[in-house]
Amino acid sequence: MGWRPMSSSTRDQIQNEIRSLPKDAQYNAPAAVLDKVGRNIYQIPSHPLGIIRSKIFGHFRQHYGETFEFVEGLSPIVSVSQNFDVLNFEANHPGRSPIDTYYFNSQQLLRTHTSAHQVDLLRSGKEAFLCVGDVYRRDTVDATHYPVFHQMEGVRVFPGGNDLDSERDLKQCLEMLVDDIFGKVEKRWIDAYFPFTHPSWELEIFYQNEWLEVLGCGVVHPAIMEAGGVSIEKGNSAWAFGLGLERLAMVLFGIPDIRLFWTEDERFTSQFKEDTITTFKPFSKHPACYKDIAFFLEDEHSFAENDFHELVRTIGGDLVESVTLVDNFVHPTTQKKSLCYRINYRSMSRNLTNEEIDRLQQAVRAALPTALPHVTLR
Ligand code: DAH
Repeated sequence: MGWRPMSSSTRDQIQNEIRSLPKDAQYNAPAAVLDKVGRNIYQIPSHPLGIIRSKIFGHFRQHYGETFEFVEGLSPIVSVSQNFDVLNFEANHPGRSPIDTYYFNSQQLLRTHTSAHQVDLLRSGKEAFLCVGDVYRRDTVDATHYPVFHQMEGVRVFPGGNDLDSERDLKQCLEMLVDDIFGKVEKRWIDAYFPFTHPSWELEIFYQNEWLEVLGCGVVHPAIMEAGGVSIEKGNSAWAFGLGLERLAMVLFGIPDIRLFWTEDERFTSQFKEDTITTFKPFSKHPACYKDIAFFLEDEHSFAENDFHELVRTIGGDLVESVTLVDNFVHPTTQKKSLCYRINYRSMSRNLTNEEIDRLQQAVRAALPTALPHVTLR
């Protein structure tokens, strides 16, 4: 049954537009990349990208009511001015190079980020918006890079506000968002540089045993405020952020390869359900099988996730493909934290039997109380 794009007419429209665009010596967009334009897979409700997008939209609706306008479906064909110039990119910024960017001609390109719409959306009078879209970059080919991916841009203007108000509100807003998406996680703000914000930061979270960069953000640069028609003389201030949907979806759903987002293989598409984050079950010649294990922490501070991972690896060896935290809650009466981990078993060379996997899982359960004395199996 696969999934279908929302509307094929908009796809045809944009494909026609692409065909009729003037091309010059700068033209460097291959057919396979252009073919993705208008697919709008982020709008499919049961697609992992669509699920994340809706979750974030839902979060903003819940916490901010109608304050933020949701914008999507804008054409990814933009001008050099929109993508770079008005955003304050220096003339020799490497991002402008056709090594990094897909051009139709010297003036028109496939947007490399949703920031390309910031100024236009501000100009149209919007004071707070989230903008989602497909973005295009020439890059290396590996499990986490693909020439087409998706971003969400957020902007909020504080009429009469100052930059410290913006910074405070920005950080609070984004911390709340990641807690909602990932469960309560440890976070850190890293100083960063973007031409269109000042100051700028990246937000990192500690998730599944590593620091993960989830977004870039900052206080909107005065030059962008001016270009967007928001007078800074009146003491206005604004914040902005941008995040990559694939990066979030890959960790939340456990999707190992970014190419999977584009597959129409039913073994992928049939796994996901609207409004639900589930762990991707890999398919390959040799099937994987997962087993969940849940336990209460008697003393939250004496539990180190690393210890649990190591225990599983010690027992399961190379038959353990991954260990992921799938649930995490605090018991309402005992106040004890409960964790549920999903252990994914798979051999790269043969089919595992149920008995074999059950034996491994039993061995993990049996070893847990001694290896981690501060946990109680559920
Ligand atoms: N456009 C940036 C990128 O693609 C992400 C970003 C960073 C967007 C900071 C923003 C921002 O709005 O304020 O890497």
